[in-house]
Amino acid sequence: MSRKLFIYDGSDLTFSSLKLKDQVESYQNPVWIYKKEVITERIDWIQSWKGLGRLHYAIKANFHPEILKIMKDKNCGIDAVSLGEMKQAIKYGFVPQDIIFSGVAKSEAELTWAVENEIYQINVENQSELKKLIKITEKLNKKVNLGLRVNPEVDAGTHPGIATALKDSKFGLGFSDAIEALGMIQGQKNLILKSISFHIGSQIMNVNVFEKAIQTVKPFYAEARKNHPQLDRLDLGGGLGIDYHDADSDVDHSRWKQLEAIYTKELKDFGAFLLLEVGRFLVARSCVLISRVEVIKKTPSKNFLMLDAGMSLLMRPSLYEAFHQVLPLEKKSGAVESYTVVGPICESSDVLVSDFQFPMIEEGDLVAICDVGAYGASMSSNYNLREPALEIFI
Ligand code: LLP
Repeated sequence: MSRKLFIYDGSDLTFSSLKLKDQVESYQNPVWIYKKEVITERIDWIQSWKGLGRLHYAIKANFHPEILKIMKDKNCGIDAVSLGEMKQAIKYGFVPQDIIFSGVAKSEAELTWAVENEIYQINVENQSELKKLIKITEKLNKKVNLGLRVNPEVDAGTHPGIATALKDSKFGLGFSDAIEALGMIQGQKNLILKSISFHIGSQIMNVNVFEKAIQTVKPFYAEARKNHPQLDRLDLGGGLGIDYHDADSDVDHSRWKQLEAIYTKELKDFGAFLLLEVGRFLVARSCVLISRVEVIKKTPSKNFLMLDAGMSLLMRPSLYEAFHQVLPLEKKSGAVESYTVVGPICESSDVLVSDFQFPMIEEGDLVAICDVGAYGASMSSNYNLREPALEIFI
């Protein structure tokens, strides 16, 4: 089955049935346009999994208040990686018990805030963090619920820039270090091991690697429970990917269903409360970045299409050679040509996509850069002091 998110209605580009040109009649600067339904539908897919304990939203993917409002209305928790993200969640209606705090290099101030506010779970990633927590909980005379982030050492088959569970990763604890960490926790009355956690990377397309990871982590969980009877949560992380070459909701849905089947097969009778920390899969498809063709430049061997949106707004292509489709809002008839699409930033690496085929396109035309709801606006900067782009929610 197929349900495409981008369809031309005659010559006009529609995004999830929304005619995009109607949204940008008085275009001045790049603008992010979000369709909220795309997000709610995906939350519903995941929350309909019967085995799920709670879906936590990885707020780093996009921290816009409108998105947080959707997550709150749908009773999602939050997965945060900094004090700033935790405070953003609280500001938009979440309570500390909604928050899992992950991240590799948590500061004393961040940990103190998390302990004082009695958040749901701190995912510990190294022993230094445990030492800090021992001091902080003693000083405040408070207990804290911990997740231990272990590294299943599976190759998630994703871009090295977003893989996190390889042996020499800065993230998580290898199994032998994790065993030491269990020992450290055991003697501490204020540290309560509630969860074993893992997150093997992002933009994972081959769901079988999740199965491998679970199979590796399950025996460790069983072992850990022997001395930590309060351990009753398994945090499965996030990481499910989308096909950036083809925005098709049915295909996305069936990828989720494949993963759900793996979770069910591996964990049906496991007995733990199952947590997810999903970012991209929930929000990536919900947004397009509208941009204008400012300049077309032809050199003897290359055609450049220069847009008014570049790496300061959308960093993913420059950082990970990530691909995003670029579709003209109006399809004009004429010969198809190949272009390298670049942004306006004074950096040679400000390339959105190389050798992309366009139907007839001219200076002044508007294009949609697709699937930018995750790690788009949240990673943007004001480099070159360009105007920030508005975010519109429909
Ligand atoms: N949990 C933890 C501990 C994480 O580090 C991440 C993402 C997630 C959950 C959510 O992963 P997701 O479901 O979104 O794949 N900026 C990169 C992605 C970085 C992901 C970082 N960690 C990109 O644009 O592709």
